[in-house]
Amino acid sequence: MKVDGTHYRSLWWDAEKQVLTIIDQRWLPHEFRIDTLPTLEAFAAAISEMRVRGAPLIGATAAYGMALAARLDPTDGALSKARKYLYETRPTAVNLRWALDRVIARLAPLPEAARAEAALRLAHEIADEDVEINRMIGVHGLEIIREIAATKPAGAPVNILTHCNAGWLATVDWGTATSPIYQAHEAGIPVHVWVDETRPRNQGALTAWELGSHGIPHTYVVDNAGGHLMQHGLVDMVITGTDRTTRRGDVCNKIGTYLKALAAHDNGVPFFVALPSPTIDWTVEDGLAAIPIEERDGGEISDIQGQTPAGIGTVRVTPAGTGTGNPAFDVTPNRLVTGLVTERGTAPATAEGLAALFPDLAREAQPA
Ligand code: MRU
Repeated sequence: MKVDGTHYRSLWWDAEKQVLTIIDQRWLPHEFRIDTLPTLEAFAAAISEMRVRGAPLIGATAAYGMALAARLDPTDGALSKARKYLYETRPTAVNLRWALDRVIARLAPLPEAARAEAALRLAHEIADEDVEINRMIGVHGLEIIREIAATKPAGAPVNILTHCNAGWLATVDWGTATSPIYQAHEAGIPVHVWVDETRPRNQGALTAWELGSHGIPHTYVVDNAGGHLMQHGLVDMVITGTDRTTRRGDVCNKIGTYLKALAAHDNGVPFFVALPSPTIDWTVEDGLAAIPIEERDGGEISDIQGQTPAGIGTVRVTPAGTGTGNPAFDVTPNRLVTGLVTERGTAPATAEGLAALFPDLAREAQPA
């Protein structure tokens, strides 16, 4: 998508320097800084410190990390060590495991001399596939927005609430939850987006920055505003991303998503989840029981980063010494999800619904 009129992906390969370039998201929306990941340690830090973030982008980044690992040492032992090292960076988004395992499976039958080139080719493939998957989520999600628009007075915007950043920054391009919004805007359907702040890391500011860059009307609201807005008929639909969705359609996403789903259910507002197939964990049925929830540093709660007159700075918001708890994700049970918008169409959030759209993938993996 575009930044100041120039098209960017959230990561790209610098063929001349043979290095992965990323947008360092820690500084957005205030500063647009790019960086390179020249070592495996830099890859691990970029993922765990959330310089790159969002399930699909974590997966694509890890694939490039494995390409670097294969260049450094293509033996089975070294690749399996690199896989474990990158796997331990963040626990919840399943795209990380999906990408790492896909690289290992592709390289295992190859002679060592062929592995570095094959791994890089696969990383490019994963990045390009992500762009196409998200574009298609937009094609299918656009139809939902179009149907809602048809029920509204001519010219009235479709009010869409989203949580966290499931935008192009969280993917390689397009975003998942934002792709239908971008495509509706391009199709001339008036949309307005309620952007949840998404404490503690305020990923909503990334979403607001993205939407602003594309001229899409939006309003930034605190996380607790959603229920109130829905009670007053100000939300026509909710669409969020996901970090891991189980084979029966339980959705794990950024902390606070569950509360939005409850409020949507209580108010009869449709609650959709944009779901790329690599984010489906076919080995898990019950999301609440089986998905590991990342607990992040309490400093993300007690301190808040923002723009100050002297540059980007941090201030403390809690009394010194106050204990904090920082679960980064929650699970929304499938009964609260109206539909899963995938690259192959929109499925009911049930095992049958997902298996009908992805019979090939559902067959491959059974519950662990
Ligand atoms: O902790 P983050 O910022 O990596 O969490 C990201 C989210 O929860 C997104 O909503 C999710 O990854 C979907 S991104 C297309």
